[in-house]
Amino acid sequence: MDDNHLKEPLIKRDLLSIADLSSQEIWHLIERATELKRGIQGANLKRKSLALLFEKPSLRTRVSFEVAMREMGGYALYLSPAEVGLGKREEIADVARTLSRYVQGIAARTFSHHTMEELSHYAIVPVINALSDKEHPCQVLGDLLTIYERKGGLEGLTLAFVGDGNNVARSLMLAAATVGMNFRIAAPEGYWLDEGSLSSARELASQSGSQVLCTTDPCEVAKDADVVYTDVWVSMGQGSEAESRRRAFQEGYQVTPELLSLAQAGALFMHPLPAHHGEEIAAGMLEHPQSVVFDQAENRLHIQKAILLKMMG
Ligand code: CP
Ligand code: NVA
Repeated sequence: MDDNHLKEPLIKRDLLSIADLSSQEIWHLIERATELKRGIQGANLKRKSLALLFEKPSLRTRVSFEVAMREMGGYALYLSPAEVGLGKREEIADVARTLSRYVQGIAARTFSHHTMEELSHYAIVPVINALSDKEHPCQVLGDLLTIYERKGGLEGLTLAFVGDGNNVARSLMLAAATVGMNFRIAAPEGYWLDEGSLSSARELASQSGSQVLCTTDPCEVAKDADVVYTDVWVSMGQGSEAESRRRAFQEGYQVTPELLSLAQAGALFMHPLPAHHGEEIAAGMLEHPQSVVFDQAENRLHIQKAILLKMMG
């Protein structure tokens, strides 16, 4: 018998929040994704399997993870909400421990972020947050790649988020504050980001030399911004609040060509998709000359490859 059993167990690394990554690690992922996008493969994930454990629907996240695994020689296994019944048919802890015996990583999309944390606690393989009610780190890493490609850097730029203080907004704010981008958000009262996340972001921003601003005025945030970003007013799981949310956001929170024109000439218009045309964006915004929304969608594939290599390679 060899003495492998005496070695320290490897500590697995999860990606639950964008704040799990340092600025250096974010830059490393962007650089790796850029190489992978150019076709420089290097590493691969041969014989590695990834479980996609999804409680909510998905187009981009599911497809980009599946294609990323396939293109790197591995295999992705999609588990739909109906199949697993996370916490209903079976305890979350038991699902996490069982999956850990079959696959080398779990990408999970959950309603509650607590579910994500419980999966991470019990899984002995890396858990990647593929969206929870709190964060969407993979989306935001792809977005940083998109901004970097278009603007040639990140530090010192200003990102204006117009809309709900939701999962995407929270991850964007924390990412911006980590890499030194200024982050501004305009949302109606009652739809702001929570105080805890704001104070974490302000702490990160003070280290990176950037600023975080929260207001109710969309024009104030859009003025001279380098990026104008929005997302749906009603996120998955918020269907019961749809009417009150639409009422609150209809009061001036739609991104229109006029709002975008307050930003820098050449500012980017961004949206994670799916979009609701005529709600958070005026008709035609996806086709606007400053829109980079389909680059964002494509970059999910390249950044996901870099994330998978970091976590499972
Ligand atoms: N942006 C994004 O995560 O899209 P899906 O919900 O389609 O995966
Ligand atoms: N905030 C949206 C993002 C979808 C990618 C949601 O959670 O539904």
